[in-house]
Amino acid sequence: MRTVEWDSGAVKMIDQRALPWKLEFVRLETAEAVAESIQNMTVRGAPAIGAAAGFGMALAARASKADAIGALAQDLRKAAELLKAARPTAVNLAWAVDKLLEIAASDEFSNPDDLRDVLLQAAKRIADEDVAINKRMAQRGAALVPDGATILHHCNTGALATVDYGTALGVVRSAFELGKKIHVLLDETRPRLQGSRLSAWELDRLGVSYDIIPDAAAGYYMGQGEVDIILVGADRIAANGDVANKIGTYQLAIMAQAHGIPFYTVAPTSTIDLALSSGAQIPIEQRDPAEVTTPYGNPIVPAHFKARNPAFDVTPHRYLSGIVTERGIARPPFNASLRRAVAGEEI
Ligand code: MRU
Repeated sequence: MRTVEWDSGAVKMIDQRALPWKLEFVRLETAEAVAESIQNMTVRGAPAIGAAAGFGMALAARASKADAIGALAQDLRKAAELLKAARPTAVNLAWAVDKLLEIAASDEFSNPDDLRDVLLQAAKRIADEDVAINKRMAQRGAALVPDGATILHHCNTGALATVDYGTALGVVRSAFELGKKIHVLLDETRPRLQGSRLSAWELDRLGVSYDIIPDAAAGYYMGQGEVDIILVGADRIAANGDVANKIGTYQLAIMAQAHGIPFYTVAPTSTIDLALSSGAQIPIEQRDPAEVTTPYGNPIVPAHFKARNPAFDVTPHRYLSGIVTERGIARPPFNASLRRAVAGEEI
C-alpha cells in the first residue's frame, strides 16, 4: 500500500489526519488541492510531500489549457510557487518541484502534450525511486542496530512519511525483518502526535514490539540505561550536516550525547541541501498555535490562552553519530561526506 500514488488522472493519498482510527484515502484532482493537502497535513513527512508535489505538478500540466510549450512552462511556474509555499522546511518538496520545472525548461519538447506525458512519468519515477531508496537506506541502517536493542524514535518516519517503507522506521523494519529482537520507544511527538498516532499504527501492523512514551520521558529512559540507539528522520540537512527535523529532535540529540548513546539521522540524499552552509539558514515552519491548545479540535485550555508552535528544530551536526543515506553512512566531517553522497558516490 502506497501513501501517495497516481490513480487515473488524480493523486490518491492516505488521509493521515484520520489515523489511527480510520484508514481513509482522498483523491485530489488539482495542484491547488494538493498544495492544501500538504499544508493541512493530510499528507506529511518530507519524502511523501515531495512525491505529492511531483504529482501536483503533473496535475497542473494536465489542467493547463496552454497549447504552446512557453505558456505551459509559465503555468507550471505558478503551480510550483503554490506547491513550494505549502510547507517551507522539508527540502524534498522544492527538490521534486524543481526537478519537474527543469524538465519543462529544457528545449527538448515542442509539443505540450509530450511534455505533459513526460512530467507525469517523472513524477511517477520520483515516487517509485523513493521506495527503492528507502529499502537501500534501511539495509544500510539495520547494520547499526544491535540484536536485542531498544531504539528510541521521534515523530513518524515510516511508510506514511514516505511513499512506502520509511527512513528511520524503515531501518527499524529492516532490523525486524532480519530477525533481530528489537523494542522501540516511540516519542508521542506533540503537538500533532505523529509518534503515537502514526508510528504506533505502523509498528502495530508490522508486529514490532513498541511502547508509546510521553516526549518528556525520553531522558528518563536514557538515564535508566534502556536506550541503545536513537534513530530519527530529517526534513532538511545543510551542507555541514546540521539537521532540521521534527520539533524535539534537538533536545534528544543533546541528551543522547550526555548519555553516550549513538544518535543517527536517516534520510535520502534528496533531503540534503548543499546550497545552505549551515542549519541557521533553514527556514523553520511556524504552525497555528491552535494545534497546541486545541489538538485535533479538542480544547485543552481556553481558546484565548497563548501558545507558540514551531514545527521543526535544528540539531547541530556535532551531536550526530552519522547520517544514513541510500549511498552509505555519512560520517564527520559531513561537509565532505555529504557532498560525495549527493554527487552519487558510494560513501
Ligand atoms: O511535520 P511532519 O509530520 O511532516 O514532520 C515529519 C518529520 O519531521 C520527519 O521526521 C521527516 O519528515 C522525515 S520523514 C521520513
